[in-house]
Amino acid sequence: ETTESETTEGEQTTSSESNELPDKVVIGSDIPYRPFEYETTSGELTGFDVDIAKAVFEGELGIDYEFKPTSFDSIIPSLNNNNFRVIMSAMTINDTRAEKVDFSEPYFTAYQTVIIPTGSDISSKEDLKGKNIGVQKGTTGASAAEGLKEEFDGDLTLKKYDQISGAFQALINGQVAAVVNDNTVNAEFVNGNGEGEAVFLEGEGAAEDAGKDAPPYLTLTVEEYGIAFRQDDDGFRKQVNEALAAVREDGTYEEIYAEYFEG
Ligand code: ARG
Repeated sequence: ETTESETTEGEQTTSSESNELPDKVVIGSDIPYRPFEYETTSGELTGFDVDIAKAVFEGELGIDYEFKPTSFDSIIPSLNNNNFRVIMSAMTINDTRAEKVDFSEPYFTAYQTVIIPTGSDISSKEDLKGKNIGVQKGTTGASAAEGLKEEFDGDLTLKKYDQISGAFQALINGQVAAVVNDNTVNAEFVNGNGEGEAVFLEGEGAAEDAGKDAPPYLTLTVEEYGIAFRQDDDGFRKQVNEALAAVREDGTYEEIYAEYFEG
């Protein structure tokens, strides 16, 4: 039986003692995915997930944490191969993933949204029929775009990129007519690097259907982010859930939220 350990170099295995905390938690994440995990111009890792990790692991549990850049498409197998202890990567909780990992309580609500080049002739979801759509591989954005493809009886082409930046670049270059991706990450692009070059496709959708206080543009899904754990790591998962609840109760969550999403 291993206790918390560095069995082989860099491995993060699961403690057999359910209530024993590791000294340090290594977090797998696909970076950059701004505003959740990205580097500042001075090379410092920051973002909503990074600040929540700091509050939960360092602040509440008193342990060190470190982010380990990992391709999103293989991040679940990588967790299950002990390359890190948890995933924090703006990861949506869903049933397919829950067959292979266990999730924390939800910590963020997100929506799949569509962005298009400024001046595009696309003005509704139906106009996406027949177009090239850019997505990040292995994401719920890719699944939402697959859903559109089915809706259009196959008349849609998915272009899959390893990172979301590839999809954004393809949009600017005219290689794709739209990008399907998480709303706040799209918003960061539309108001940042892509300013003046990309806008949200408007319309009503999943958010309104779910009775959510909806973003002012088309939503294809309503999703919740969670921290992912190996399925034999329930003791740690429970401790993290309690820490997450404490961070919400003492106002830290609200402060971090305001820093990235208000004003
Ligand atoms: N929320 C989406 C999903 O779970 C996209 C996450 C991409 N995250 C990242 N760090 N690249 O599929």
